[in-house]
Amino acid sequence: MNKPVALVTGSSRGIGRAIAIELAKNFRIAVNYYDKIEVDANRAQAQEVLDLIRQAGGDGVILGADVSDPASAAQLIEATIANLDGIDVLVNNAGINKDQLMVRMTDAQWHDVIDTNLSSAFYCSRAALKYMMKKKQGRIINISSVVGMAGNAGQAHYAASKAGLLGFTYSVAKEYGPRGITANAVAPGYIVSDMTNKLPAEVTARMTEQIPLGRLGTPEDIAALVAFLASPAAAYINGQVIRVDGGMSI
Ligand SMILES: NC(=O)c1ccc[n+]([C@@H]2O[C@H](COP(=O)([O-])OP(=O)(O)OC[C@H]3O[C@@H](n4cnc5c(N)ncnc54)[C@H](O)[C@@H]3O)[C@@H](O)[C@H]2O)c1
Repeated sequence: MNKPVALVTGSSRGIGRAIAIELAKNFRIAVNYYDKIEVDANRAQAQEVLDLIRQAGGDGVILGADVSDPASAAQLIEATIANLDGIDVLVNNAGINKDQLMVRMTDAQWHDVIDTNLSSAFYCSRAALKYMMKKKQGRIINISSVVGMAGNAGQAHYAASKAGLLGFTYSVAKEYGPRGITANAVAPGYIVSDMTNKLPAEVTARMTEQIPLGRLGTPEDIAALVAFLASPAAAYINGQVIRVDGGMSI
């Protein structure tokens, strides 16, 4: 029998890539990439992710889409269903940060971050839920952030988007739990990725001091929890947010 299907948005690199590779042990994967800024680079990276998945005995497809755009997000869900015969798990992972003090923040910066991090989850979930409801099963896993729970200077838009994802998760859990669909959120702390590699070394050192485990997290630390939430063992977990931050926010 064919393995069930998982779509991971923004999975050409970083945390999404690790999630796609981990989920591929039990799912066929739609690896989503977005090419607007780095034309062809993200597509090539997505192909690399799929090659790794296939080498390990898994399968899937790569699908380009801008999840911050409602039409493109809806097409991504349709393409996933058309290419892989369904969608059982949706991981809303795509995200950006454009750090800026609020008094200097432009409308465009605000909207870019909200659209990419929060509205995208709505666009993708809306389309996927229609299919999941018919099957009376499905999992939606939203990648939030500890910043959405605590706020952060220079990240008003990012924190608002990640906090918004939590309210969104709780609402999906209540609205679609009765249809056999669960929704949960994962809140990573500081994870080694392109997003945090941009930070100056002294900022990384200061962050590490706040983490009881004494290290930044890895994309694989996040992927392990997502794989659990997507598994049959997590069938009764619904509407939760789980921090993966090395104990930073205790
Ligand atoms: N790195 C961290 O410390 C950290 C901490 C907490 C939460 N997160 C969250 O984890 C998620 C992954 O972040 P990462 O650290 O791997 O960053 P990253 O920049 O390495 O990866 C982000 C991915 O999202 C994709 N993306 C961006 N805009 C898109 C769009 N419009 N449509 C489709 N894809 C798009 C990018 O192409 C990329 O593949 C994000 O939601 C981020 O906010 C990261």
